Amino acid sequence: MSSLKGREIVLGVTGCIAAYKSAELVRHLVKQGACVHVVMTDSAREFVAPLTFQTLSGSPVTTGLFKLYEEKEIGHISLARRADVIVVAPATANIIGKVAGGIADDILSTVIMASMSPVLFAPAMNESMWKNPILQKNLKILKNLSYNFVNPGWGDLACGAQGEGRLAEADDILDEITCMLSTKDFEQKRALVTAGPTCESIDPVRYISNPSSGKMGFSIARALIYRGADVTLVSGPTALSPPRNVKFVPVRTAEEMALAVEDEFGQTDIVIKAAAVADYRPANTALQKIKKENKGLVLEMEKTRDILAALGEKKAGRILVGFAAETQDLFSNALVKLKKKNLDMIVANDVSRNDTGFGTDINKVEIIMADGSVEDLPAMGKDELADRILDKIAQIVKKSELK
Ligand code: CTP
Repeated sequence: MSSLKGREIVLGVTGCIAAYKSAELVRHLVKQGACVHVVMTDSAREFVAPLTFQTLSGSPVTTGLFKLYEEKEIGHISLARRADVIVVAPATANIIGKVAGGIADDILSTVIMASMSPVLFAPAMNESMWKNPILQKNLKILKNLSYNFVNPGWGDLACGAQGEGRLAEADDILDEITCMLSTKDFEQKRALVTAGPTCESIDPVRYISNPSSGKMGFSIARALIYRGADVTLVSGPTALSPPRNVKFVPVRTAEEMALAVEDEFGQTDIVIKAAAVADYRPANTALQKIKKENKGLVLEMEKTRDILAALGEKKAGRILVGFAAETQDLFSNALVKLKKKNLDMIVANDVSRNDTGFGTDINKVEIIMADGSVEDLPAMGKDELADRILDKIAQIVKKSELK
């Protein structure tokens, strides 16, 4: 699983101008179904009022060590125990120094000290502080003790200078949290994912393509990274940014995709072909823009290579997963493709619906296994579906390792 749904996250906010950005982080975490408990230091409260975090997280904000002793449970111990992960964002040089030095003199440093949960720091500070050798030594101490970090980015700093020290983007922090909380059931596996459409040129300014957004393949690649795999993502043109830590290979045509996939296949354990590959391309691409004439235009088309079918022929011990885009007879058409292309599993997708599938954030699929068993999944977001698809593939991996 690589989802934040129902996970308990203690978010420590320390005194830095970037504290306001943590409010956005809370919003994202809550949107993904996480239970967020915010702990603020005294200096953090100089920058943002606890009410902001309380409103966004829907839970009381913890602000002081001693007030908690009035509760039935010992507050900092209960927070420390309940956390699946503790995230400190923004993390000042002060909190990093305290934790590295074993100091627990306020609510946040005490919760961290009392917890066995993994901790993620997202530092934010002025560039000189970031480069200070004492801070760098403290980072090293904490890294050696398996504390996790999302490094700050480069850009405009609150002090007016430009440099390294800006709090990492909320998406990158979220990515890291999800990664830390994910089951690592694809560790030591090398996966190749294809995504997006292909574009087949008619002339220098026109092409034939399809409405694939690439979202499904990108979600699968991201979930594989969270779950510990080494991932290569070969994608046709999309508007998406590649997930962090994937090896990204952008391509345009079916032939370019075939060559990129061939290149990677040798060192791959699992192939997931979510791309919507053109079956035909113009037999000739005009070198100059085709001018309109008074009659119609007939284009001669030739077949592209079926990339997945070719992989099926030289599969050896690899796991091959295909997608089937269908507008009718979903199950029977998909089953034919599964058999013909020698696949372990096929994800059958009804692309005639305009509320799911191509170009949308939601997908509704049936998953068909090589033994003919089927799971009809309800419509769901593509990130969630990526996890469900990987759960099925993990079962195939397990079975193949038992043989
Ligand atoms: N595929 C491929 N190379 C192609 C065409 C398809 O690798 N030239 C892969 C797709 O990435 C997908 C699977 O084959 O995983 C099925 O693709 P789909 O378009 O549904 O079916 P086709 O095999 O192209 O058959 P048809 O278009 O006749 O339905």
